[in-house]
Amino acid sequence: MTEALRSRVVSKRPDPEPCRDQDLGKFEVTVRDGAARLGKLFTRHGVLETPMLLPVINPNIRTIEPRVMWEKYRVNGLITNSYVTWKHDKLREPALENGIHSLLDFPGVIVTDSGTFQSYVYGDVEVGVEEIVDFQKKIGVDIGTMLDVFGRPDMSREELEHAVEETANRALISLNAAGEETLLNGPVQGGLHDDLRAQAGALMGEVSGEHRGFAVHPIGGIVPLMEKQRYLELFRILLSARSTIPPNRPIHMFGCGHPILFPMCIALGVDLFDSAAYALFARDDRLLTPNGTVKLGDLTEWPHSSSALFQYTPNEVREMERDERSTLLAHHNLEVTQAELARCREAVRNGTIWQLAEQRSHANARLREAFEWVLEQLQETEEGPVAESALRTIASTNPVRGSAEQFSDDIDSRPHLLHLNALLAMRWRRPGSWWDGSNDNAERVVILSGAAPPWRDTALGSAISALAEEPRSIVLISTPVGLIPFSLEDVSPWCHIECPEDIWNMILDEDEIDAWLEDLGVVDLPLDIHVCQPDPEEEAGGENRAKIRDWIDQCTIVDKLSLFCGVSPSYSCDFTKNMTVRRSRTDRMVNINFEGMHCLSPRLQDGALSLTLAGAEKLHQLNPNSPPRFDEGDTSTGLDHPGVPRVLLMDDAIPFVEKGRNVIHGFVLGADSHLIVGQPCLVVSAKGELVAHGVANATADDMAFFDKGIAVKVRDGALK
Ligand code: GUN
Repeated sequence: MTEALRSRVVSKRPDPEPCRDQDLGKFEVTVRDGAARLGKLFTRHGVLETPMLLPVINPNIRTIEPRVMWEKYRVNGLITNSYVTWKHDKLREPALENGIHSLLDFPGVIVTDSGTFQSYVYGDVEVGVEEIVDFQKKIGVDIGTMLDVFGRPDMSREELEHAVEETANRALISLNAAGEETLLNGPVQGGLHDDLRAQAGALMGEVSGEHRGFAVHPIGGIVPLMEKQRYLELFRILLSARSTIPPNRPIHMFGCGHPILFPMCIALGVDLFDSAAYALFARDDRLLTPNGTVKLGDLTEWPHSSSALFQYTPNEVREMERDERSTLLAHHNLEVTQAELARCREAVRNGTIWQLAEQRSHANARLREAFEWVLEQLQETEEGPVAESALRTIASTNPVRGSAEQFSDDIDSRPHLLHLNALLAMRWRRPGSWWDGSNDNAERVVILSGAAPPWRDTALGSAISALAEEPRSIVLISTPVGLIPFSLEDVSPWCHIECPEDIWNMILDEDEIDAWLEDLGVVDLPLDIHVCQPDPEEEAGGENRAKIRDWIDQCTIVDKLSLFCGVSPSYSCDFTKNMTVRRSRTDRMVNINFEGMHCLSPRLQDGALSLTLAGAEKLHQLNPNSPPRFDEGDTSTGLDHPGVPRVLLMDDAIPFVEKGRNVIHGFVLGADSHLIVGQPCLVVSAKGELVAHGVANATADDMAFFDKGIAVKVRDGALK
């Protein structure tokens, strides 16, 4: 490193705090958006906040000093090779004597690999299965790696079966050799075979050593695919392996570290990356950018700048000495890598990781091909590990959003919209009674088109006029992503799509309309298409206006309870009959009262519902039992309206949760499988009593596995 670069290492960053004994090796998810998650992995050298990249340190060539990574780039963990350390006396002796943290001068988390990759490159390694884990333990690594058998994509099925089996056979001895303090990676092999990857995920996931199971599951054998940009197969492997890896274990993509892959990998559930690309590419005069790699030789200006490069022109860098140049480019590459990961984490936080993946997919033809393949899998109904993961991705995504949705050609395939549309198709029902008091069948469908949201301003008059003219009308709105009932006009993303004006004015073609009407179950009715004019809201409906509006309000509550809480419309029609409403100054429903009690509020940010304690008690009375326990296996009822999802709480936690404390993972005995992240749920005791209500922060699957973090964000405890 040059003196100039060394001097830019600013103030000293304090060493990390070791985790508490009881947290060692645990993984907590703090934010989840479908498969994507923000997590914390607890170690003796601090907490790894995921998704993150472990830069590869070659202990013989330290292109960027680990200390500089810690201080300057806030790299909290790195990966180095225990086999290389073991093999070279000049590394082995000091590592054994003073520990790996001292050898590398790095205070954060040190992960080591085992020599498997060397056996792939050179044919074999001389170290034993137990010996290499024991060495990693002795030099004090935080997360070691067992000696797995590398499964190359071009191997025969028999060879790959052997790689999976032999790796699994070595798992228990390795876990026991790691002892109590060293966490271990349990790699998942299986080549290009979906079933082998799923089998490997299950085998490695279920092994339990004397102290614990594997802390992390890297997906192995993928480097040859990345070298050839075979991204479709890469995502296929990820989806099949993920179908069986326990959800409370972080997933690591072994050897994957090009920023172009981060958004898609993270959207599909990757938590950790590692790569030497920052240094290897730099040595080759190549620069990483979030959209691909560029060659220094081709540049007049920087297509993607960084603080490392900003003060130089490409020409000045070309003229530097080779070592100085590659160190500088390595700094740039690491900075870009860290910045892109920060961007991805922020996107997970604000619900836009899928949109980011979609944008990045346009950067490279092979990535686009892979992305389109993933979209196909999300719509696929076949069985198998890939389909299973795709389905879980959709079901674990909160269907509503608090922020604007950018329009694109792929918008319909975003997991939250697929989830929302699936809920609409499954749970929405045509009204059974109408504003004029009649209970007969619907007479017609009216589609309001040509209006942009907020529809309560631009289309309410048209909706009221249509209902005044024919009370038994089902009023739908045409949106750029399909037809929705007018009652759901303020549900985001439907009402929050950012697109040019002419997209709102676009009229769906006949086939599209038929497909939507079919999904909504109203294809049998006569159809009127009404192009909204500037809205005659005040006069619409004449003397019946107030009555029609009240009826629309009631439909809104019935439909939202149905979609987001799984409550049968026939029940909610009953108890919403005499509901009263308090409105905001902008004319939105704020409080919904049943029998004078405030029970519900539409959430202003996304149009879904929040319950009050009175509302939770009312809904609990519809289904006053406890949900199935996890050990009862799959107990989903298969009903379209199974009722508000419930979480079964351990007795020990009741005194805390009934006072309003959050439900913590590890205290949950069971949960309804239709629990939706971000939507209301009830917390009940084994006797079926209501303990609290809140918002699910995890899926039922997660709750069965995790033992750290928040399972339900409680709104109110039910303590009498
Ligand atoms: N590094 C890159 N791929 C692999 C793999 O499959 N196994 C191990 N242990 N290390 C790797």
